Amino acid sequence: MPQPYLYRDFANGLSARVPRQASLDAERYTTTAFMQQEWDGIWTRSWLLAGLLCDLKEPGDYFVFNLGRESILVSRTESGAIAAVYNACQHRGNRIMTNELGSVRAISCPYHGWTYDLDGRLLSVPDAERFTQDIACESHSLKPVQVDTWAGLVWINMDLDAPSLATFLGDVIPELAPYRFEDMVLVSDQTVTLDANWKTCIDNFNEQYHVDFIHPQHASFVDCCNAANELWPLGHRRVLVEGYVTNPRYGVPEEVPPILAAAIRPLGLEPDDFKGRVPEVRRAVQRQKRLVGERLGFDYSGFTDEQVSDVLQYDLFPNVIMTVKPEELWVMRPRPHPTDPDKCCFDKWTLRANLPGDASHGLSLVGDPKVTADAIDDRPEREVFDQADVVAGRHSMTITIDQDIHLLRDMQAGMHSRGFRRAVLNEDEIRVQHFHDWVDAWLDGKAWPTSS
Ligand code: FES
Ligand SMILES: [Fe+2]
Repeated sequence: MPQPYLYRDFANGLSARVPRQASLDAERYTTTAFMQQEWDGIWTRSWLLAGLLCDLKEPGDYFVFNLGRESILVSRTESGAIAAVYNACQHRGNRIMTNELGSVRAISCPYHGWTYDLDGRLLSVPDAERFTQDIACESHSLKPVQVDTWAGLVWINMDLDAPSLATFLGDVIPELAPYRFEDMVLVSDQTVTLDANWKTCIDNFNEQYHVDFIHPQHASFVDCCNAANELWPLGHRRVLVEGYVTNPRYGVPEEVPPILAAAIRPLGLEPDDFKGRVPEVRRAVQRQKRLVGERLGFDYSGFTDEQVSDVLQYDLFPNVIMTVKPEELWVMRPRPHPTDPDKCCFDKWTLRANLPGDASHGLSLVGDPKVTADAIDDRPEREVFDQADVVAGRHSMTITIDQDIHLLRDMQAGMHSRGFRRAVLNEDEIRVQHFHDWVDAWLDGKAWPTSS
């Protein structure tokens, strides 16, 4: 069933490209030559999600954002501003910070002790008088990159002349404002290393065509068949999948299926009340969440009915996938490997709104309140694992994502075959096509004003 789609133009005059018929040669997933083109055309030009603002609460707090061969150090300075610099010492290039997260008074290179302030300004050089050339602070400070924040997320851009983050995100900013992601609390931080190109991951999250086959459980609580795709300028995408409904491809069930029943009971809805009228569950959930929210002190008034009940995913070019709900945010981010196009790291952060609970009545605004924001005292440690851990059941990123992870290695392997040359896409894969059209536009330097 072809899914509807819509072109979205940004208010500031950046218009969407009309997608052409994408021709996705296997080489774009498998070769170091294409990987290098992406480095030059995308990673060093585009705004990139570097990390979470909650990791930079106090002056001295820092995190390291590793991407490909590059490493960027992001910190909160003494003045309270956010600074981002290349994590490379100006003496002989040593990568200074190797811990991913921490707090320091100054940035001190462990090799020969050159010390920089949190802005990257060179403060002191041991035995400075023994250098014959001038090592003035200005010329030997750590090299800056652009940095900005939005929605509790920290973004960097290696191109110092690139237009602003607000220009890059355009209408995404007002559209997501009601969610107040900046007030959410991190409840889980996971990274899985995968034998797959970063775009193989992005493609997987950009079509519902595979859902019936590898996520059969979805048929009983969302309607992936009629997902509404939106194609935005600069390569961003959005999809809306109706929630609290069943897949019409399989007919309308007489009773509420078990997964859907488990999702509505915490809201105080009784599945048996919907016998013979299962399609009415979604509308009832939209009403009930508002009522329960009022009772528990969580305000849904800024949200549309769709935002209350449905699954909305924003894919921000190049590599950010945000699944958004009023109660919970997933941020996913595949990062390219330093040298190998067949590998990537896939990060997933889960953030929760601080939802008031009401244990005495058993009501909850999330169907699966395993971890609640108010139960989090310390920042959760990052769990790092690989695909084999997921397959063996030692780690999980939710049942659905685990099912995807099972497939990704085989996708990447198949694209190396002498028997495969290029992908062919259908209308349900329109977001994949749009993404790759814009990859090409970025590689051609036609997507965005650049410094060179
Ligand atoms: S490389 Fe950093 S002080 Fe020498
Ligand atoms: Fe999937």
